[in-house]
Amino acid sequence: MNDHRQSERGSEIVIQACDVYKTFRVGGSEIEVLRGISLQVRAGETLGIVGASGAGKTTLINVLGALEPATRGDVFFRGRAYSEMSNRERTQLRGSFMGFVFQAYYLLPELSLLENVMLPAMVRRGAVRSTGVIRRRAQDLLEKVGLAHRIDHRPAELSGGEQQRAALARALMNNPEVVFADEPTGNLDSETGKQVLDCLFSIVRDGSHTLVLVSHDRNVVERCARVVRIHDGRLTAEQGPS
Ligand SMILES: Nc1ncnc2c1ncn2[C@@H]1O[C@H](COP(=O)(O)OP(=O)(O)OP(=O)(O)O)[C@@H](O)[C@H]1O
Ligand SMILES: [Mg+2]
Repeated sequence: MNDHRQSERGSEIVIQACDVYKTFRVGGSEIEVLRGISLQVRAGETLGIVGASGAGKTTLINVLGALEPATRGDVFFRGRAYSEMSNRERTQLRGSFMGFVFQAYYLLPELSLLENVMLPAMVRRGAVRSTGVIRRRAQDLLEKVGLAHRIDHRPAELSGGEQQRAALARALMNNPEVVFADEPTGNLDSETGKQVLDCLFSIVRDGSHTLVLVSHDRNVVERCARVVRIHDGRLTAEQGPS
């Protein structure tokens, strides 16, 4: 599984957004949030997207991550247009090739940490691995994020930083090619946020994952090799190769 990453690793484009627009209709009026976004994300790179609150960062990550359709323009994953995929194909794309980390963790409260981390592998269509293999991988991931001693705990028994580290482990469960992180430190104090980012960047580096990280906080995104800014629905290069 995921040999595609090892064999095709290099600077090839994984995600490409071409002139993407996203408009929301609220009541009788339209809000044009993304206004002609073009972006290439290359294999193994860490890309930060910074912008003010309401600038459209979450909207952009949702469109890049095939969670929401673009109103106009298209996004491609290794050359395949999202608009030409069925719902089922987009679901499989997200489940097998993408991992998501959100500001609010979204761990399921009635499950243990171990079960939360195992979940993406259990629900993946066509998964052939046994529960034992999945359990061992989840244990390894929880160990990697420093939570080996907490695997049987429920999320409510953990601190915010611990919950977010568990969410990182969950995002990595299916060994995704791309990890999307939307304000992963937004609910944490600065020291705890730093620990979560240390953990995120170390895992991404070790696994050669591609990272797309959005935040309003420059200090968070500047840990990425390349940073772009979203403003007025458009992107401008800030740091690193454009
Ligand atoms: N489903 C929706 N329906 C209507 N308007 C929306 C919807 N989602 C987002 N918006 C609007 O789009 C704009 C961008 O929202 P978005 O959540 O992408 O911003 P953001 O940059 O992530 O902000 P924050 O830093 O506060 O998370 C906002 O004006 C928001 O109100
Ligand atoms: Mg947001």
